[in-house]
Amino acid sequence: MSNTYGKSGYGGVVVDNRKRNGAVGGILTLAVAGVSGYLIWKYALGSPASLTDAQDGLTNLTDKAGEKWEEWDMPGDWSDLSNFTDVLEGLTDELFAELYGGDPMLGDNTTYLWDNDFIDSDNGGLHLTLQNALDDTWQTEFGTAVADWQESEALQLTTERVAVDYNCGRVDGVMVVCNANFGETGWVGINENSIVNNVIVSSVAKMNEYYLRNADFDHRRLTMCHEIGHGFGLPHTDENPHNANLGNCLDYTDNPSTNLLPGDVNMAKLREMYLTRRLRRVEEDGTVVETTQLIRR
Ligand SMILES: *[C@@H]1O[C@H](CO)[C@@H](O)[C@H](O)[C@H]1NC(C)=O
Ligand SMILES: *[C@@H]1O[C@H](CO)[C@@H](O)[C@H](O)[C@H]1NC(C)=O
Ligand SMILES: *[C@@H]1O[C@H](CO)[C@@H](O)[C@H](O)[C@H]1NC(C)=O
Repeated sequence: MSNTYGKSGYGGVVVDNRKRNGAVGGILTLAVAGVSGYLIWKYALGSPASLTDAQDGLTNLTDKAGEKWEEWDMPGDWSDLSNFTDVLEGLTDELFAELYGGDPMLGDNTTYLWDNDFIDSDNGGLHLTLQNALDDTWQTEFGTAVADWQESEALQLTTERVAVDYNCGRVDGVMVVCNANFGETGWVGINENSIVNNVIVSSVAKMNEYYLRNADFDHRRLTMCHEIGHGFGLPHTDENPHNANLGNCLDYTDNPSTNLLPGDVNMAKLREMYLTRRLRRVEEDGTVVETTQLIRR
């Protein structure tokens, strides 16, 4: 498959979508998990002539998928994402753990990198802007998580506070971080990475207020750290919430207190991803041939 569009994060839906000859085909539901899961939407779009074409198609498909998603498993009033009347009064460690379980992509270790335009492996790695579209209640969690990730020598992050966006719109070339009441979806947070030609071109990290509005600081902080981490392209480090914590926020847990921060294993992965020189060649038939060379420091 030469062109893949995808979204990944926590959620309950796996979608495969195919477009032929300019027409959007039917959306095929591969799996709908009852509780929670790791969401991967893959769009095979033939061969768009240009990135603009591709992004155009992506937007169309994202809209379609949005409509479908609403039909599938959005209880309550999906249209009013900013209505926080019906949210959980609190979140227990048990429920928090459960919400990270039941993952249909268990064991999937696919790692996507951002587009080369954002990577300078000789000069700081991934250069990325995070648009802060969160409301006031999230500013501490966001600031803390960004500072924690910025400890990585492979990340050069810039933040930009923009208008609060409860619709969590995607923006090309940046990671948008937002909060809204998505309802009882089975996920506390979700990250949707848009993949074009096997690289990330945009990312949206969504905090689900249904679970998090009245949750304690640790649950909110861990979720923020976790979803932002996925936005860099990082996979999970462990998917069993009931075993000992690994000390990083990409590890599922029923005890957030020692998993609040990125850990050494995440930092090592980021170095491997963004401080490594890569040569990428796309063959006639669409096969991607990649050669990597770790830059020694
Ligand atoms: C996306 O939708 C617009 C209008 O709805 C249409 O003009 C355009 O051709 C579509 N793009 C693709 C790639 O299907
Ligand atoms: C918010 O949701 C509640 C419960 O679903 C509803 O009763 C109320 O009218 C909604 N408020 C607004 C402003 O839509
Ligand atoms: C992903 O791969 C790493 C090693 O690269 C491994 O330690 C980890 O357990 C894997 N995670 C899953 C969910 O398979």
